[in-house]
Amino acid sequence: MPPQARMMQMITGYWVTQIVHALADLKVADHLSDDLLTPEELAALTKSDPDAMFRLLRTAASLDLASYDGSGRFGTTPLLEMLREGVPGSLRDIAIVHGSPAHWLSWGKFPDAVRAGEPQTEAALGSDVWTHFANHPAEFETFSNSMTELTDGLSREIAQLLDLTGVETAVDIGGANGALLHALLKSNVDVRGVVVDLPSVESTAIAEAEKAGLSERCEFVGGSFFEPVPHGDLFLLKAVLHNWDDESCVKILTRCREALNPGGRVVVVEMPLGPIGEPGFAPLLDLNMLAVVPGRERDLAHYEGLFAQAGLRLTSVVPTRSPQSLIEAAAL
Ligand SMILES: C[S@@+](CC[C@H](N)C(=O)[O-])C[C@H]1O[C@@H](n2cnc3c(N)ncnc32)[C@H](O)[C@@H]1O
Repeated sequence: MPPQARMMQMITGYWVTQIVHALADLKVADHLSDDLLTPEELAALTKSDPDAMFRLLRTAASLDLASYDGSGRFGTTPLLEMLREGVPGSLRDIAIVHGSPAHWLSWGKFPDAVRAGEPQTEAALGSDVWTHFANHPAEFETFSNSMTELTDGLSREIAQLLDLTGVETAVDIGGANGALLHALLKSNVDVRGVVVDLPSVESTAIAEAEKAGLSERCEFVGGSFFEPVPHGDLFLLKAVLHNWDDESCVKILTRCREALNPGGRVVVVEMPLGPIGEPGFAPLLDLNMLAVVPGRERDLAHYEGLFAQAGLRLTSVVPTRSPQSLIEAAAL
């Protein structure tokens, strides 16, 4: 593709973000899962304007996000299925998250974030993102559910990769609904688990533990990981450190080290940055962190340095099939 056409595609990339957001928000994939429907039928089901629904579906069909039968009815595609609620690999909630205020408005101030070297959430949202979520519980619930969505597939692989011999208590720090912990508990029936996250996550985390049949073995502790955390043999930190600056990461890791039982370990699940210029998702995710939170993606040497400042030492790095790795540490 010539550079001008490529550039135009990049410039208008956000149109597609909002098209996908609308399809997810209006549950178009769910409505089309069994039947071909006309735009009028879909408009009635989604309480939308029929002409606008037709225009959305026409564009969706040009993006492989809908099929068209040639006589007025639209259907689903394998790509659109990824926006269906509750199917394996569903990305419905994360599609809504990226089109919703916390991310959308913060990214709208991205040039200023680059100028300032920090997210412009105060200007965009009136507060940092976690306060924004506390003030907008429905948006936060979708965010927490999107974390479950993203973690679900990977967590089964992590459960296979992690040997939990000798672990009695696993603590999922910033564990949201506890998706990763639940996978570990399911394949290690003698282990009990604790999710530590902000108090507003409690109801969805408890509901998810019940749904997983793990209420007996899985506890939720509402609070901050900057304060002392419950003791355990294994600490999980998935997609947590990348939300924070180095100083905060050292504090979080120190809280974990202080609560580690003898012989215990910390497992950080993050997407380490590779060499500059290597194609991949990590550099993009790094800028999402610059736009939305005071965090960043890091390379392995950077994690090793954070561990050392928190009284930990890097013991192993285990890649997964995804760009995420298990970065393990133990007390010095
Ligand atoms: C990016 S999410 C990762 C969730 C989960 N570990 C996963 O990967 O699916 C970060 C989590 O940190 C939690 N969090 C933010 N600030 C916190 C704090 N001060 N104490 C405890 N949890 C916090 C958020 O509520 C959120 O669930």
